[in-house]
Amino acid sequence: MASSGSYPGVPVGATNCRGNSSDYSRLLLPHLVRDNEPVHSSKLRLLLSAQQIQSRVAELAAAIDADYPESAAGPRLHLVVALKGACFFAVDLVRAIRRDVSLDFLAVSSYGSATQSSGRIRITKELDSDIAGLDVLLVEDIVDTGLTVKQIEHMLRRQGPRSLRIAALLDKPGRRIEPVKLNYVGFEAPDEFLVGYGLDFDERYRNLPDVHVLESGSRETASLGQ
Ligand code: IMP
Ligand code: MG
Repeated sequence: MASSGSYPGVPVGATNCRGNSSDYSRLLLPHLVRDNEPVHSSKLRLLLSAQQIQSRVAELAAAIDADYPESAAGPRLHLVVALKGACFFAVDLVRAIRRDVSLDFLAVSSYGSATQSSGRIRITKELDSDIAGLDVLLVEDIVDTGLTVKQIEHMLRRQGPRSLRIAALLDKPGRRIEPVKLNYVGFEAPDEFLVGYGLDFDERYRNLPDVHVLESGSRETASLGQ
């Protein structure tokens, strides 16, 4: 069972509010904000430098190249990227992969109220092309409870890919609700709220080149979530 460690009082499933970042922020904000101090006093603690990330991405790409040897007869390797956060990771990963690949994107949002995620997802951007018969690699930014990736996995499997594997830059195994097999993991992450390199808090911080912990008790701007 996942712990609620870093997000005291926030139902674990409720942090699974992709596509509805204002709900996400409203739930987390009280745990990150103590008063109305301005945004510049936010506390970010460096967790992974851009350099660490890039060298790990190169290792993952080499492992993927080794696992999917190119063959004229075989199906192509098709990366399915879960928007938005994972596109930062995917763009670096795909440029480090040497074999031929194709790319597609999907976006999901979770069903449920602001305080209770049902763990079911709704597709907000469909795949552009059919994945039947392809070797599919789902690319995720971070796997937390596992609810999102599990639902995406079910949905992709129904479309009949020849194979389906999952790559995630970050894995928070300590918060898992839904067991999920991750084939390629960049880093095991602590049970803390992370931002940067695609990871956001209310759509902010995605552009940071490093991954940081958004420290609990940091003074975020009072306008977040509005
Ligand atoms: P899960 O369904 O609980 O595994 O959560 C999946 C999604 O929640 C991720 O793809 C992220 O969009 C978001 N998420 C989970 N943990 C974090 C975090 O520490 N920082 C930013 N987003 C997160
Ligand atoms: Mg997100």
